[in-house]
Amino acid sequence: MDEFVARSLDEIRFWSRIMKEHSFFLGLGFRCEDTQLKKEADRFYAIFEDIERRSHEFQANADPHTIKNFNTEVAIAATHIWAFKRMVLGLILQCKLPGQTNFPLLVDHISREANYFRNRLEELNTGRLEPLPDAVIDENVFFLKIMADHSKFINHLLDPSERKLVEQAREFSNDFDMLMFQAIDLSSMRPQSQTVPLLSQFVDQNKVSVKALRDFKKTARDLINECRIKSIIHPLLADHVFREAERFLSILDMFDQALSGAKVNKREILH
Ligand SMILES: [Fe+2]
Ligand SMILES: [Fe+2]
Repeated sequence: MDEFVARSLDEIRFWSRIMKEHSFFLGLGFRCEDTQLKKEADRFYAIFEDIERRSHEFQANADPHTIKNFNTEVAIAATHIWAFKRMVLGLILQCKLPGQTNFPLLVDHISREANYFRNRLEELNTGRLEPLPDAVIDENVFFLKIMADHSKFINHLLDPSERKLVEQAREFSNDFDMLMFQAIDLSSMRPQSQTVPLLSQFVDQNKVSVKALRDFKKTARDLINECRIKSIIHPLLADHVFREAERFLSILDMFDQALSGAKVNKREILH
């Protein structure tokens, strides 16, 4: 199986569904009178729904050339949705959409995810992949912030009367803020910090917390689906953040395997 094809299709299948759902969440948060913004969000929903469908139609033996073109097309769509999200963030921060219900941090967050998606596709297409030690640090800095943000969204979208769950979400938020700063510290100590023992301890420690958060999100998702807790969390949002934690966990597992192979100077695994 062609590694480039497999890796490209895996990224697109995961992230196009995520982008499609972001369009849905943006649409839900707009006010009734924001018909133009709502239309634009619906348009992105259709674009990424189509990309997702096509990504599943390709086989593992697809022509790498065709996939390269597909990657380029999807990267352009990701750039467009990124620009739309940043534009919406600007409107919210200038108080031009009073009463809309998406947190500014959420809009910033989903724009960072679009940017990440675009970068992954560009890396795949140009073949300019980060060496493993850099990938370990950069992916963790990115995803730890994503996990810290999710904890804050859950914290703020649960009903205040769900005191116990709100407190748990707050603890996850603190935990992931701390892990993110640790990752930034390790990043600042580069390249001297990039030894196998330090990187593998870093990955192991992060895995423990991501597993705990993943389980918490799964429980929250199930409770929301069964209507057993009070919140304004859409069931699809609960599932969405759960899937992103699973994604981070699978990336950490790949790093774990690569580091235990100790071939740290080779580009491998993630790419
Ligand atoms: Fe997302
Ligand atoms: Fe997210």
